[in-house]
Amino acid sequence: MKNIVLTGYMASGKTTIGSALANNMGYRFIDVDKLIVEHEKKTINDIFDSMGEKYFREIETQVIEKISDTENAVIATGGGVVLKKINMDTLRKNGIIFFIDTPIDAIIKRLSRSNTGRPLVDNVGAEQIRERYERRQKYYNNYDYRIETQNKTLGMIINEIKNTYTQAVDKLGKD
Ligand code: S3P
Repeated sequence: MKNIVLTGYMASGKTTIGSALANNMGYRFIDVDKLIVEHEKKTINDIFDSMGEKYFREIETQVIEKISDTENAVIATGGGVVLKKINMDTLRKNGIIFFIDTPIDAIIKRLSRSNTGRPLVDNVGAEQIRERYERRQKYYNNYDYRIETQNKTLGMIINEIKNTYTQAVDKLGKD
């Protein structure tokens, strides 16, 4: 069965939702950031510091290519995966893209903790976080289904993704 691919801005809830969803469905959970950290044996912050963002993006694309044959998995992507079309094309070959749509104000609140381990937001003002989100909006729009998270419990979000996925897979089977 096709993978469930979660996209969305940093701190939108992809990892929390993804691991709970995978658990619920008996699917494998794959966290792209975690694979990058394992591959490089460094934290995301250290990769950005020592090698730069461009290098990080190259590894990110390689990791996505590596997992592209997987099936029956929930894949949580990093917030910048959407920026390269090749990443999205690869993920879509065997997956359905769900954009986790969390309002930027809620995200800024979550990110206001002083150190979140995210090089693009730590020590950065709320306005810059908001601007990056706005610049990226057109990339996040490259989704198959959009899941709003505001005022919903984790259980509600999981059920919504699961139901949407089941219907989508069912429809694909009939086409
Ligand atoms: C990034 C998001 C991060 C991580 C890296 C870059 C981004 O993942 O991949 O810090 O460019 O949005 P999360 O979305 O899990 O925070």
